[in-house]
Amino acid sequence: MSANFPVTKIAESRLREGMDISFGKTFTDHMLVADYANGQWGKVEIIPYQPIPFYPALMALHYGQEIFEGIKAYINKNGETVIFRPDRNFKRFNESAARMEMPEVPEEIFLGGMKQLIALDKDWIPQKDNHSLYIRPFMFATDEYLGVRPSLTYKFIIILSPSGPYFAKPARILVEDHYTRAAPGGVGRAKNAGNYGGSLKAAADAQKKGFDQVLWTDPFEHKWLQEVGAMNVMFVYKDKVVTPSLDEGTVLEGVTRDSAIVVLREMGKSVEERPVNIDELVQEYKNGNLTEAFGTGTAAVVSMIQQLSYRDMDMEFDVANAPVAAELAQRLAAIRTGEAEDAHGWIFRV
Ligand code: COI
Repeated sequence: MSANFPVTKIAESRLREGMDISFGKTFTDHMLVADYANGQWGKVEIIPYQPIPFYPALMALHYGQEIFEGIKAYINKNGETVIFRPDRNFKRFNESAARMEMPEVPEEIFLGGMKQLIALDKDWIPQKDNHSLYIRPFMFATDEYLGVRPSLTYKFIIILSPSGPYFAKPARILVEDHYTRAAPGGVGRAKNAGNYGGSLKAAADAQKKGFDQVLWTDPFEHKWLQEVGAMNVMFVYKDKVVTPSLDEGTVLEGVTRDSAIVVLREMGKSVEERPVNIDELVQEYKNGNLTEAFGTGTAAVVSMIQQLSYRDMDMEFDVANAPVAAELAQRLAAIRTGEAEDAHGWIFRV
């Protein structure tokens, strides 16, 4: 249900033809802001998109207590505004909050406020192929304090960004064998800012070698595959699809990952969620069994992997001939646009 929080409308919309709507660059007219203090959520309001004033001692800046989500809204073929599985992101957000010792955000603010905000800014939803309204809810610590402890005050904000594809082209990925993103017992499963900041050095080193991103591995042997940070990974063998399991808490529980597993099974594929070792992949590639590799994510959707390299082994994939990834992408798109039945209740109307 949409909420009914107080709204201060922008004097004149900033929406213009021809704005740059490549991923994450442009923001809509309004944002939702909620404040937490004294053990409860207080004021919640929708206001024009604007800077947030804060003092330099803001705790989030010092100790990284910040979590976020990524969700997408679309206009479907009947002209309705729909959001894809925001209930899953809501659940994951509060799991991240618990891991980072932050307060839960109530459903009325997260989901109800999101719907109210999107309804207000719905003219910003792009109606081009592979475009959507990217929704970014986030929460951060706002105490002014330099001691290391959980903040007592927080801000929860939702901003909206009309966006095109995250990856402009099929990815070249280096299997990381030096740096580590997540270890068992760590925060890999949480969607906290530090996981992304901590990934930049490895990505920059990989980019110097001609790659786009790294595929993270376990911290001990650097052989057990985890995820690519902006997406989970899946590998197509002749008779099945394999994807790293979530067991150790080192991999983000992707909403698109979950949707892909359901849809792949509907396509008649057997999907194995289990530990996946790079030596296995290399062997299956050499045997001709590993035919496709792709990533799944909210921003990434289904992104083809063109090259996967591990030490001196380069595995190349023919992205023009990746029938499993192509059918999966097409089926997921059909559910979003309303061309296919929403058999699983994934579509939330605004
Ligand atoms: C998403 O897929 O929404 C993400 O959070 C990935 C990235 C843009 C940080």
